[in-house]
Amino acid sequence: MRKPVIAGNWKMYKTIAEAVEFVKRLRPLVARVEHCEIVVAPPFTALRAVCDALRGSNIGLAAQDLHWEREGPYTGDVSASMIREAGCTYVIIGHSERRHGHGETDAMVNRKVKAAVAEGLTPIVCVGETLAEREAGKTLEVLARQFEGGLAGLTAQEFSRIMMAYEPVWAIGTGRTATPQLAAESHGELRRLVSLRFGEAAGKQVRILYGGSVKPENIGGLMAEEQIDGALVGGASLAVDSFTAIVNYRL
Ligand code: PGA
Repeated sequence: MRKPVIAGNWKMYKTIAEAVEFVKRLRPLVARVEHCEIVVAPPFTALRAVCDALRGSNIGLAAQDLHWEREGPYTGDVSASMIREAGCTYVIIGHSERRHGHGETDAMVNRKVKAAVAEGLTPIVCVGETLAEREAGKTLEVLARQFEGGLAGLTAQEFSRIMMAYEPVWAIGTGRTATPQLAAESHGELRRLVSLRFGEAAGKQVRILYGGSVKPENIGGLMAEEQIDGALVGGASLAVDSFTAIVNYRL
């Protein structure tokens, strides 16, 4: 059984005060949730304060990115050990906003994944095609390239720490969600790639989240798909009510 994960990616939203206020309100509303793991990913500046506010709760903390080096002259970057010290146990890697906005390549994603795993973090590795790639019939090719490049050189044991997120770029922040069937197709393909590369057990165990305009109204249909193990939620994770409704998708 794969335990579902509902993760909120706050992107560049929320001050420290707003982030702490959010989790203080969220905690009691989800205190009894056992059917899924709950994760929030605040901006770097709010990580430590949110970690303190989450102590003793059932909500995990993620960073939105990291640098692969332990330390060094990398202005603006933060390392795996730094985010770990700030209280994170998860880290989002290879989000399309980093790939497209910051020129992040599969090779960089790969170094980040290795650094995160070495530090004992759980990477949430994002892959997904653009609209042009989908329309050109290249979705599976793109997924395979991102998968092979981003996860190159990992052992099956290292891979067992990793979660994946399928986020079609055309569905992120656009209000245009992939249909559950369409998402399930891509998830199935990713699972097949995992089985081929890391063994059948890994393919059965890996959790693959869907991301792209997930809302309280569409989470039920997505989670009904056997292939979909949770959601990486952007916009709808910024309000306590909608994030709670998504967490409670089956209640
Ligand atoms: P969205 O973002 O839910 O606002 O589409 C998802 C994501 O970028 O992870």
